[in-house]
Amino acid sequence: MEDVLILSIESSCDETAAAVIKNGREVLANVIHSQIDLHTLYGGVVPEIASRQHIEKVNQVINKALDEAGVTLDDITAIAVTYGPGLVGALLVGVSAAKAIAFATGKPLIGVHHIEGHICANFIENKELEPPFHCLVVSGGHTHLVHVKDYGVYEILGRTRDDAAGEAFDKVARAIGLGYPGGPKVDKLSNEGNPDAIVFPRAKMADNVYDFSFSGLKSAVLNYINSMEMKGEEINRADVAASFQKAVTDVLVEHSIDAMREVGSKRLAIAGGVASNQHLRAAMIEACGKEGIEFFYPSPIYCTDNAAMIGVAGYYEYIRGTRHGYDLNAMPNLKLGERI
Ligand code: KG4
Ligand code: ZN
Repeated sequence: MEDVLILSIESSCDETAAAVIKNGREVLANVIHSQIDLHTLYGGVVPEIASRQHIEKVNQVINKALDEAGVTLDDITAIAVTYGPGLVGALLVGVSAAKAIAFATGKPLIGVHHIEGHICANFIENKELEPPFHCLVVSGGHTHLVHVKDYGVYEILGRTRDDAAGEAFDKVARAIGLGYPGGPKVDKLSNEGNPDAIVFPRAKMADNVYDFSFSGLKSAVLNYINSMEMKGEEINRADVAASFQKAVTDVLVEHSIDAMREVGSKRLAIAGGVASNQHLRAAMIEACGKEGIEFFYPSPIYCTDNAAMIGVAGYYEYIRGTRHGYDLNAMPNLKLGERI
């Protein structure tokens, strides 16, 4: 069979990325232009700035990916692009670039769900992993416990009722003066702190035990900081970071393991930016080891936003026959498994 080469584009938030994926799981190129420095100034992603940066960088990033892969557009089988969820103005840049290339070359256009991409990141380094399995998706915008029934077929068992896990990391980081992006900074600082120094709440939902809630935890951290300031006491930021991180990790691990036990699944994967958190990875490895559950996780570079994961998801969509027209639009609120 002829090789299938997917050129993939990702621009849903603050990374402009392009990749070339061979036969679904081999990364020939994975180029990421991060805008973090620009947004750090404002303490978070500024959508208008993100869109403008994507416009400036998208063609460079695509050309670099093709160069690194040692291929031209003629060699590419299909173009895959993230079309949701995400920031509408940011998504539009990638979608427009992908449509233009597809139109100019006459190659198939495939819209990919961003979270489907995160899940598929697990296929890159775990060549033996195939559905069915379960996946905990923890990113800046999403916290989902997903049953991956087949390629492109998902059932959501649990989701956050309020803040996403990454959002909680970012807000707590801001509160203790670490700045943006918060997750990696909390991860690093917590190495110097005591995770048992402060007991923060771990929320459990009565009506769906697999759902998550992180806003109470975030408020508890903010209240702790306020009350310490009112008393004129010094805050040990490393202890706050470590204790908060432990509370998040405990909930993510416990809910995932409970679900795995209940449904009798023995294969768990993790995905999304927060999946690069060292403490969470270690806790998952330990808990899964005890339960006899096989645990899969991508390298950190494939956890945070990248286009390689979109190329992998795009390949499986290509195989299942997904094709989009030139009317493909950015869908900021696209649901996982929804096909528009
Ligand atoms: O998946 P991602 O790159 O973008 C979205 O789709 O949202 O996730 C970004 C989120 C941010 O909230 C960031 O703070 C968090 O992932 N994150 C981390 C770590 N690295 C990134 N959170 C905890 N520990 C980390 N090492
Ligand atoms: Zn993401």
